[in-house]
Amino acid sequence: MSFKSFIPYQRRSVHAVIVTGVLVTTLGLVSIAHADPQAADNVEVASSIELDVPYVPTPEPVVEGMMEMGAVSEGNRVIDLGSGDGRIAIAAAKLGAQVLGVDIDPERIREADENAEREGVTDRVEFRQEDLFDTPIADADVLTLYLLPTINQQLRPKILTDMAPGSRVVSHAFDMGNWASDERRTIAGRTVYLWHVPARIEGEWQLMQGDTLVNLTLSQRYQEVRGVAQRDGQAMTVGNARLLGDRIAFTLADGEHYQRFYGRVDQDRIQGVEPVEALAGPGEPVEADWQAERES
Ligand SMILES: C[S@@+](CC[C@H](N)C(=O)[O-])C[C@H]1O[C@@H](n2cnc3c(N)ncnc32)[C@H](O)[C@@H]1O
Repeated sequence: MSFKSFIPYQRRSVHAVIVTGVLVTTLGLVSIAHADPQAADNVEVASSIELDVPYVPTPEPVVEGMMEMGAVSEGNRVIDLGSGDGRIAIAAAKLGAQVLGVDIDPERIREADENAEREGVTDRVEFRQEDLFDTPIADADVLTLYLLPTINQQLRPKILTDMAPGSRVVSHAFDMGNWASDERRTIAGRTVYLWHVPARIEGEWQLMQGDTLVNLTLSQRYQEVRGVAQRDGQAMTVGNARLLGDRIAFTLADGEHYQRFYGRVDQDRIQGVEPVEALAGPGEPVEADWQAERES
């Protein structure tokens, strides 16, 4: 089934407005076509471009906020899906990131290329005319979006499967359905969401702390984690489990002691780390010399 429905100039949003012979919309649920500016009375000749999202630029202060929330920094690989005039991609390139912007509209690509040239960042940014659903995103440290809720949700499985744990997704205005964001800010009246792609931690783990073995069973829904544990056949409580990208923390309690474990997940292994402020919780932090291995 196609994601697109191509309905030249048929309004599917009450917010749609027409200017300069080209249909421009707010981000309502609408597909748009290119118009022939010569056509009388705005009766356009549709080109073959089908947009899943109309072009609406992100205000500059919001772009800045997106960079900050995504912690975009030198050497990061950033992908902006639906890059418009390139402002998000160019902002990332100015911070030293290597950036790919993709847009299906060749006019936007032309504008973005010109803007990158003017801003002197052509060595760090590439704009590619492409359908955003075809863009490989596995290599991105940061993915930026200003699309639509439905498009975000269509991208969600690919983000969760392909992007590395700990990589970030920043979306202007729209959330990801039932995948709750890790952070949400209001910037210049707009909402911006941040997600850290969660590591996959579901399964049976053997946790070794010195000579002590704890059998830990973890389940997860996105970054929400639950667990049960046993030590020497005795049940322990797993509390306040938190997952932020590839960092995990949980409290193990045996009725007498509350110990907080902080670790970094690397596929089938968790290595203890120093306490992570963002994942703080009840219990005495344990030394970082524990590890866990997934059995299944
Ligand atoms: C809301 S604008 C965002 C522009 C820019 N990222 C910004 O925030 O300023 C959405 C952009 O997505 C592009 N777009 C729509 N459908 C697309 C598709 N299937 N593949 C790639 N780009 C698409 C549009 O041409 C438009 O430039």
